[in-house]
Amino acid sequence: MSRSSRLAADLLAYVTRRPWQAEPLSEPLPLDALPTPALVLDADALERNVARMAAFLAQYGKAPRPHAKTHKCPLIAKSQLAQGAVGICAAKTGEAAALVAAGVHQVLVTSPVADPLRAELLAALARQARDADPRSRIDVVVDSMSGFETLRRCVSSADDLGGVIDIDVAMGRTGTRERDQILALADALSSTPGFRFAGVQHYAGQVMHLDGWDARSARSRELWQTVEEHVFALRERGFDPGIITGGGTGTFDIDCRERMITDLQVGSYVFMDQQYRVIGASGGGLFEPFEQSLSVLATVISQPRPSHVTVDAGFKAFAVDAGPPQPLTPGLRYRFAGDEHGVVLAEGEGTLPTLGARLSFVPPHCDPTVNLYDAYWVLRDGMVRERWPIPARGLSW
Ligand SMILES: Cc1ncc(COP(=O)(O)O)c(C=O)c1O
Repeated sequence: MSRSSRLAADLLAYVTRRPWQAEPLSEPLPLDALPTPALVLDADALERNVARMAAFLAQYGKAPRPHAKTHKCPLIAKSQLAQGAVGICAAKTGEAAALVAAGVHQVLVTSPVADPLRAELLAALARQARDADPRSRIDVVVDSMSGFETLRRCVSSADDLGGVIDIDVAMGRTGTRERDQILALADALSSTPGFRFAGVQHYAGQVMHLDGWDARSARSRELWQTVEEHVFALRERGFDPGIITGGGTGTFDIDCRERMITDLQVGSYVFMDQQYRVIGASGGGLFEPFEQSLSVLATVISQPRPSHVTVDAGFKAFAVDAGPPQPLTPGLRYRFAGDEHGVVLAEGEGTLPTLGARLSFVPPHCDPTVNLYDAYWVLRDGMVRERWPIPARGLSW
């Protein structure tokens, strides 16, 4: 056994020990009783979002392949699968491990691997999933021959690892734009025992938050046309990409019209966040096709001056890449004030909350905010009834 295969086995055992099942509280609690900062999930709104996306895409003959990078929670992945998702995306092998450990067996890893450890992890995950469920499908994107060779050294001929070719058009993050390489990868995946040629992925993160639906629509369609040319070339050579996947929440009502696409990798729609709210909807106005189901609850703990109050939620409570969180109470504004603290100011008609008061915030960016917490406090009918663990939290490998 090589060092990387031993480490892969250790890591999978470690992930398997993480709890993922719902933990009912001994009694339902009002929001006021929670320790703060608390990540609060409105389960009814979440379920409506999951159902709404599946029903919307079904009208166009598409399915969601939701991205678990947003929620990192197998309970949510299972609910997405139960409501029409064709599989679940994971950003990295660590997230995939947490999903497979909890019994999610249709997983596409959307980042390519280029090192033996992750190749070992994928091979082990494919085996683990197949042993648990013969209909399992573990897929990974590939974008280079050298990445494929790294995988090939770890995957045995009895395995069944799907390779999805990652096509880059303009983002320049992962993927390949070389036609020859795309064809060579399809050939290698189709002819190497232990592998399947599963399809192609195209993700354009730079388009998701373009301001205005028309701008997103024009750019996304243009990029998909280039992908279409690659797909024609693959088909001409006799390769059939069963999966043509990509897109995200910002283009869900745009990419659904692309004939060739089979499924959309929507992530943030389950929760929504401040960054998405302001990108502009198709008829203008705020982008709110889904409900804000996620919030962070904080407590006012100090008032050092009359002009503002201080809450117990700072850099460790919210992701900091997308501006400040938005207080749900109108007339208030938040400013980061350090690792553990934030300052809340009143604007216009707003009045400052008193010491001990609770305030809820829309997170600026949901994915990295979720990654800061161990569990969701799950709200139903106005009371917190369960905690849902976030076992993929911190597993960014
Ligand atoms: C490869 C990939 N697919 C899909 C998504 C989902 O995007 P969103 O959260 O905007 O729906 C992301 C997000 O970063 C991604 O990296």
